[in-house]
Amino acid sequence: SSAAVMDVNGVHTQDNELFLHRGFKLIRGIHDPDDVDQIYDLEIRDSDVFVVTYPKSGTIWMQQILLLIEAKGDVSFISQAGNNSDLVPWMEVKGTREAFITAPSPRFRVSHLQYKFMPAALSKRKGKVIYVARNPKDVLVSYFYFHKFANMLETPKDFNDFFEKFMMDRVFGGSWFEHIKTWYSHLDDINVLFITYEEMIRDLSSAVRRITSFLGKDLTEEQLANVVKHSTFKNMKKIPQASYEKVSGDLLNHSQGGFMRKGTIGDWKNHFTVAQSEQFDEVFHREMQDFPLSFIWDMR
Ligand code: A3P
Repeated sequence: SSAAVMDVNGVHTQDNELFLHRGFKLIRGIHDPDDVDQIYDLEIRDSDVFVVTYPKSGTIWMQQILLLIEAKGDVSFISQAGNNSDLVPWMEVKGTREAFITAPSPRFRVSHLQYKFMPAALSKRKGKVIYVARNPKDVLVSYFYFHKFANMLETPKDFNDFFEKFMMDRVFGGSWFEHIKTWYSHLDDINVLFITYEEMIRDLSSAVRRITSFLGKDLTEEQLANVVKHSTFKNMKKIPQASYEKVSGDLLNHSQGGFMRKGTIGDWKNHFTVAQSEQFDEVFHREMQDFPLSFIWDMR
């Protein structure tokens, strides 16, 4: 029953909150391996949309944008829900798969799973996927803070402790590199929009237009402007359904932090030591040297 794993130095480390399933770390109590395995065979409709991210890459931001596009910019649509995750649930969380089968169209879901777990029908060009990628250095920092207030995850001793944990893939989501590379290698097989957090930060309006046209929606200028308006960091923070402030205290310890933390590019520079940054760059270079895309984000 122990989640003991051997790290690269042959040291036993304990991550009691996690368990390994087919090479991928899942969270105890949140995920059920049998449930996760049944996702692969699900029937997919053309109208299904999946937002796929490595954790902390802009998942709840895309949830908000997706809902607003569907509602043609009418933000009152969101207040029907206790939380945006009621309208755009996590695919892999225990119990959501059954609801997915019978849910009316369009079905919107988010997922942090690797490609191999996702419905096989995606590769028959059924449904749509929006993959959001973010500078992994900023992901690491955001994930560090997330571990402080997410009750299902162990609070790291300090940033250095979490840095090691992330670099050894001892986190839900596993290796950032593997996540992006395995998804990217299937981009030609599926209906997918690949977008970065940094593009969204730099020009939210263009990003919203790209997403809208990918979804095959036709919104007026005014409607598009409303989607943008209600998905800025400042405005999302004021909407409790969108900012996850209404999520139960059993899951999130709201006194220790929240999803809408900083919402900026390059916060890693305030956290990484020079040595950590160099170590990260070395791994990044080794892992990503054959990756066909160059990113707009700033690693130095
Ligand atoms: P920070 O911790 O760097 O602030 P996820 O939803 O995948 O868990 O990612 C959370 C990250 O996305 C947090 O990053 C959060 O601030 C950021 N985020 C959420 N909504 C945002 C928005 N409207 N604009 C910019 N960043 C946003």
